[in-house]
Amino acid sequence: MRRPLIAGNWKLNGRRADVEERLKALRAGFREEWVEAVDMLVCPPAVFLPSCESSLKGSPIAWGSQSHAAEASGAYTGEVSASMIADFGASYAIVGHSERRALFAETDAIVAQKVNRAVAAGLTPIVCVGETLDQREAGEAETVICSQLLAALSDESGFLEAPFVVAYEPVWAIGTGKVASVADVESVLAAIRRVLKEGSESLSERTLLLYGGSVKPSNTAELCALPDLDGALVGGASLKPADFLEIMNQCFKSLSSST
Ligand code: PGA
Repeated sequence: MRRPLIAGNWKLNGRRADVEERLKALRAGFREEWVEAVDMLVCPPAVFLPSCESSLKGSPIAWGSQSHAAEASGAYTGEVSASMIADFGASYAIVGHSERRALFAETDAIVAQKVNRAVAAGLTPIVCVGETLDQREAGEAETVICSQLLAALSDESGFLEAPFVVAYEPVWAIGTGKVASVADVESVLAAIRRVLKEGSESLSERTLLLYGGSVKPSNTAELCALPDLDGALVGGASLKPADFLEIMNQCFKSLSSST
């Protein structure tokens, strides 16, 4: 049985004071009844990982990174390694977000390397896959997504037993207010599950599938009702504690009503 995950990607937002305020509000608003049912994760800019460690330690809320170096250490000015991130108590690492792929030239090969760095450091990778609008309109969405996923899985060294998360994020739905239709999400999830099964039955069984792209309190219940969806990766709405907590609540409620 996979435990759903609601993850917040804070991107390049916030200063120390707002971040600490937000962490406090999330900790205070986290409901006891969610503890056994849904996991919550926040992914701030890396400089705020120490704030997460001091504000969230001992709470049910996990923290993780948005990006890390493809290399383990050495002369890579400006980079932060997966093991440095793990040193601050983080447990997840987002890898291959479409903004990284489009704006920072992160290729499938780099994504595969980063997945391995994350796993080697004991972080659970959240690999983002998703098509652009042109690719969807050309009928290529599933081909693109499956090839991104296969590439991320391509270097299997030591990771076939590790926990793994895949976030389906249509590029055209990120930060636009547009959400993929439930039918489209469902068919992409099925395609992702097929690829994972080809890897191994246990990989498919333990991998969480998230949806990301304009998730907000008002569309969470419908998405979380999808039998193959295990949660959401939330950008904009995760910056507002009230909205993020309500997304948790909607996910929890849709779980409770399906059991
Ligand atoms: P959004 O971003 O929720 O603001 O659309 C999602 C993401 O980029 O992970």
